[in-house]
Amino acid sequence: MKNPFVIKPYESKDLFCDREKELRLMVQGCINHTDMTLISQRRMGKTGLILRLFDELHETGLNRQTIYVDIYASRSIDDFIKLLAEAAMKAFQPKSSIGEKLISFIKSLRPQLSFDTITGEPQLQIAYQTMHEKEYTLRGLFDFLDAQEVPVIVAIDEFQQIRDYPEKNMEALLRSYIQQTQNLTFIFCGSKKHLMADIFANEKKPFYSSTTFISLEKISETAYTQFIRHLFNVNGRKIGDDAIQFILEWTRRHTYYTQQLCHTIFANGDEDVTLDVVKVSCEQLMRQGEAVYLQYRQMLTDKQWNYLIAVAKEGSVRQITASAFLKRNKIGSPSVSRRLAEALVEKGLLNDDVGLNGTTYTVSDVFFSHWMERL
Ligand SMILES: Nc1ncnc2c1ncn2[C@@H]1O[C@H](COP(=O)(O)OP(=O)(O)O)[C@@H](O)[C@H]1O
Ligand SMILES: [Mg+2]
Repeated sequence: MKNPFVIKPYESKDLFCDREKELRLMVQGCINHTDMTLISQRRMGKTGLILRLFDELHETGLNRQTIYVDIYASRSIDDFIKLLAEAAMKAFQPKSSIGEKLISFIKSLRPQLSFDTITGEPQLQIAYQTMHEKEYTLRGLFDFLDAQEVPVIVAIDEFQQIRDYPEKNMEALLRSYIQQTQNLTFIFCGSKKHLMADIFANEKKPFYSSTTFISLEKISETAYTQFIRHLFNVNGRKIGDDAIQFILEWTRRHTYYTQQLCHTIFANGDEDVTLDVVKVSCEQLMRQGEAVYLQYRQMLTDKQWNYLIAVAKEGSVRQITASAFLKRNKIGSPSVSRRLAEALVEKGLLNDDVGLNGTTYTVSDVFFSHWMERL
């Protein structure tokens, strides 16, 4: 029996929980050529939602070509061009007329083009000399996509990565090319909220106010409860309401962790999923993570480590400078607390969620957080 709780970003509509509201907004955006910015914490479901959207566009017969490019691993404009060109080649079948045109266009740019012997996927080697030539290529790629008869949706995942490029004019460059396209709709996606906000909501920056924001929050308790019950039941398993409630609380409804716990419970094979059965899987996940948690310990100073434990034990901290929190955890001054929190956010170990009532801090990895609660 196939495990219905998938861990990869997207498998199929029936294994994907909710996001109906966001999906409708995004379909509208695609129809109306509205560029969008999709932001959330890591592992909340951005990539999954983009793939779900692409699936929906194809299924409902909206004539759109979709291109997904993840630039997380890119370090420069060269990488960006390479990833975008490869993603475009993957989207347009090489044997189709557009695919052939794209390939001959790319060849005209004089990179080395090869096809992976195993997957058959295109691979580019780009070694350009001048910045001028790189700009020309990038512009050419956008122009090529823009010239297609079918409207094209381009989703760029982990977009904040462009801030790390040595080419400091990347944002201005991209913005000016994008502005000139007629036929392309862009979805910019990212987990680093501060950077994404600075790119799209800072009036001094090129992308200011150029997109509609979609912020991905937790899936509602009602929707997730139904989803979990349904997937256990249709696969011949029983699960009690108390068990589901515990799952959602323990994983804080953070999508990846909820899916991972349900996946583990399902894999363990019990036909009747009781609270005790759930807890066995929780223990298992914390044990599996231990090697990595001990690596974190190595990476951090004693102060940082103790701070992380303090946040874990509190669950979430709304006032990191409040004297009660500082005293209880022997942290020292408010400025020390701020500095420690910043460093841990920077390392991705703490989340800082900015809301109307200030910033709330939690340990990013939910299983790690529970593991530390016991120290
Ligand atoms: N709506 C959903 N229903 C079920 N599982 C989901 C949903 N959204 C995300 N997931 C799961 O959560 C995990 C993290 O999602 P992902 O899209 O990679 O997050 P992000 O891109 O925000 O970091 C994936 O394993 C994916 O299977
Ligand atoms: Mg992602």
